[in-house]
Amino acid sequence: MYRTHKCGELRETHIGETIKLSGWVQKVRDLGAMTFIDLRDRYGLCQLVVEGETQSKVSALNLGREYVISVEGNVRERESKNPQLPTGDVEVVVDVVELLNASEVPPFTIEDKTDGGEELRMKYRYLDLRREPLKQNLLLRSKVDTLVREYLNAQEFLNIETPYLIKSTPEGARDFLVPSRLNKGSFYALPQSPQTFKQLLMVSGYDKYYQIVRCFRDEDLRSDRQPEFTQVDCEMTFVTQQEVMDRFEGLMKYLLKEIHQIEYSSNFPVITYQESMASYGNDKPDIRFDMKIKELTSLVQGKGFKVFDAQEYVGGICVKNVAKEYSRKKIDTLIEWVKRPQLGGAGLVWVKYEQGTSKSSVDKFYTEQDKQAWKELFGAEDNDMVLIATGSKAKTQAILGELRLELADTLGLRKENEFAPLWIVDFPLVEWDEEAQRYHAVHHPFTAPKQEDVALMDTDPASVRAQAYDLVLNGNEVGGGSIRIHDSKLQSKAFSLLDFSEQEAQEQFGFLLNAFKYGAPPHGGLALGFDRLVALLGGQETIRDFIAFPKNNSGRDIMIDSPSVIQEEVLAELEINVPKVDISDGL
Ligand code: AMO
Repeated sequence: MYRTHKCGELRETHIGETIKLSGWVQKVRDLGAMTFIDLRDRYGLCQLVVEGETQSKVSALNLGREYVISVEGNVRERESKNPQLPTGDVEVVVDVVELLNASEVPPFTIEDKTDGGEELRMKYRYLDLRREPLKQNLLLRSKVDTLVREYLNAQEFLNIETPYLIKSTPEGARDFLVPSRLNKGSFYALPQSPQTFKQLLMVSGYDKYYQIVRCFRDEDLRSDRQPEFTQVDCEMTFVTQQEVMDRFEGLMKYLLKEIHQIEYSSNFPVITYQESMASYGNDKPDIRFDMKIKELTSLVQGKGFKVFDAQEYVGGICVKNVAKEYSRKKIDTLIEWVKRPQLGGAGLVWVKYEQGTSKSSVDKFYTEQDKQAWKELFGAEDNDMVLIATGSKAKTQAILGELRLELADTLGLRKENEFAPLWIVDFPLVEWDEEAQRYHAVHHPFTAPKQEDVALMDTDPASVRAQAYDLVLNGNEVGGGSIRIHDSKLQSKAFSLLDFSEQEAQEQFGFLLNAFKYGAPPHGGLALGFDRLVALLGGQETIRDFIAFPKNNSGRDIMIDSPSVIQEEVLAELEINVPKVDISDGL
């Protein structure tokens, strides 16, 4: 037997017991008369003491960091207790030590704060995973997985698997392709999501489906995107949009309660897409803080200030309680930030409200009365600062939205232990793609238009609203879904709006259109981004730290060195011709 107890479980109640532990050596401190060893396993850390005769035996083992040992000994009360450590009241006086395995010196320290750079830690991911912060992330992931299943199982959702080798579905990103040896020249696609399969399951009558499932998308990566990621994918039959939203709002509340003991009693706020763009400059607002964008166009135009007069839109945000703190230099830094090529802003006009009056960068053009009217619009008070931008409407709102987040970060308004979920509804069904000169689906081609907007599909497609909804948490899109089209005629109409010819629609989705001919019920669903959900519940936004073996920003797994070049014989068997590449490229 390797152990009678786990390292992290020893407490005062174990004092006097003879026990056996196994684990990794975190640290050895030789104080001459005695040696202290910190022993670690998944459950925690405990202090071992080696004294007297045992000391020479232990020294002979030459224990170093990450050696794996098994010890037998007696639990005793510690003289100097360590309140930081759950096992800090006790220590184990060691009688016997067995070396189970030696370890090379690890390339970085395996402690909460490590000296290892990102690249090195990715290469030795199995060592990085030994560190407490990453371990806590994976434990949280496992817990959320269990809770999600508990909630959905209790509500009669069936867990059904769908295939990974499928035909491509157009969901916005590029597909990862897999060549078929048995069907030369043909490729499978890895699913971007199980979208069409879950709809087919509804046609089959399974009523409520879920799956915690891997999805694959070949898209540019960011901190909240991985090429393979996990969804909690769900679909329901005979439901309205409100019923789907209620069900998953319930799940979100359950998770917040079980994980953070937060009782969220009221309904989540529901904001339309249009309202979200106007007030927050994006469709995933962080509402942990206010600082809403307000339009000033009619208030500021026609007063002789050409910069504002020449533009479609003027808008601003009000930053509370910073007027004193924001010197000209500090404001200039913000202006430079807005002008960065990534944002492409033209600059900012500022107004500070102090001691009942105001000061601004446009005092030449506007009277105190003008500025008091702006103050009223924002509900501003003394010591508040208003920042104003101008330009085309969509771009300026987006810039103000970014500025809003930047300022909230600087001012510490995005607290990681606060959770502000909300729904965004009434997304447009389609969006005009200037480059391709055609409409593309904002959600996906199976999304139903709002009943009252169906007629607009012929006359004004861009104004058709979809029965689609996103779940947003702390400025991140954690989920999205829609009520689907279940009528093959309406589906054909949607395809033709998206410029699919009859033949293309048949080739790509013939199976779904056919299925809809055999009594397809009304249905709808949603998918939660599981990695994002877990990261946000863990108070973070980078999903990589919540995935055991993630890819880096170039989509590579540095540890296993993938993707990699394939041997010519293997390619030949697949009849695939790959031009020779320099293998050192891109590594
Ligand atoms: P959607 O494309 O909105 O919807 O995806 C659902 C959720 O998955 C997460 N997500 C990602 N997470 C990590 N890395 C990525 N590359 C990535 N892409 C998406 C997001 C997103 O909200 N089939 C539809 C759902 C439906 O209609 O039922 C779908 O896949 O959190």
